[in-house]
Amino acid sequence: MTDKYAVLGNPIAHSQSPAIHAAFAKQTNQDMCYEKVLAPLDGFSKAVNKLINQGYKGANVTVPFKFEACGLATQLKLPAKRAGAVNTLSFADDHINGDNTDGLGLVRDIEHNLHKGLQSKRILLLGAGGAAEGVLYPLIDAAPSSLFIANRSVEKAVAMIDKVKLLPEYQSIRFSANSYEDLNMQKFDIVINATSVGLSDVALPISDALFADGCLAYDMMYGRETPFMAQAREAGAQVADGLGMLVEQAAEAFYLWRGVRPDSKAVIKKMRAL
Ligand code: ATR
Repeated sequence: MTDKYAVLGNPIAHSQSPAIHAAFAKQTNQDMCYEKVLAPLDGFSKAVNKLINQGYKGANVTVPFKFEACGLATQLKLPAKRAGAVNTLSFADDHINGDNTDGLGLVRDIEHNLHKGLQSKRILLLGAGGAAEGVLYPLIDAAPSSLFIANRSVEKAVAMIDKVKLLPEYQSIRFSANSYEDLNMQKFDIVINATSVGLSDVALPISDALFADGCLAYDMMYGRETPFMAQAREAGAQVADGLGMLVEQAAEAFYLWRGVRPDSKAVIKKMRAL
């Protein structure tokens, strides 16, 4: 019998996940199907239970349900616990397993596809919302020399930094929470835009001087050149959008479900050509 999977979100029409998982399944000869499900804003758990009753094996979860999915899972893997959000559900006979592959997807894209090691690097994370929270621990697990978080509402950046700065395993990392204006005079090797500002044409109030020589400027958005990407390109940085992260987080979810690692680079290439 063909194993069934889905992605739940609202909206969901734009989701590329079915095409990505179909490509993985074809590559690795997995007998599975994967579809989009529009869950009502007040009907996420009902939609999940319907999938379970219909024999689905798992589901990805996207905006705005990642936090609710965390509460619905009966067992949480460490990345999901740390992020307080779930993007991958696996349905077992007596429990619902929740995991989060977003951060790992970002780190894999930067290190394996863009060939930028994060170890001993100066990282700046722009934004302190759900998307930034989801990648915080995987970034610091990669052992940068420093991690700065800048956000319009500085108190959210402070809360994120406070969570990690005293943990014994991260004592060798220099942490700092900032407003955008505070960043003057600092330089970074990796600058990651995790704000939602790229959805509009608003530019973040950051200086070109932030981008060190050889800097990678990574926007977690995909599908368009954001003002952040345009600024970084102009300032001489290497620029990447979030398509690679999207495919890599899907590859991690696919691996969790199927136990097989797809060739994600080939699928990134294919998705870019669409
Ligand atoms: P997401 O799940 O996409 O992270 P979110 O939790 O609402 O969504 O977070 C949005 C992020 O984009 C926040 O860091 C937000 O900054 P604030 O916390 O100060 O609101 C940031 N953001 C959104 N619009 C912005 C703007 N016009 N200028 C600067 N930052 C913006």
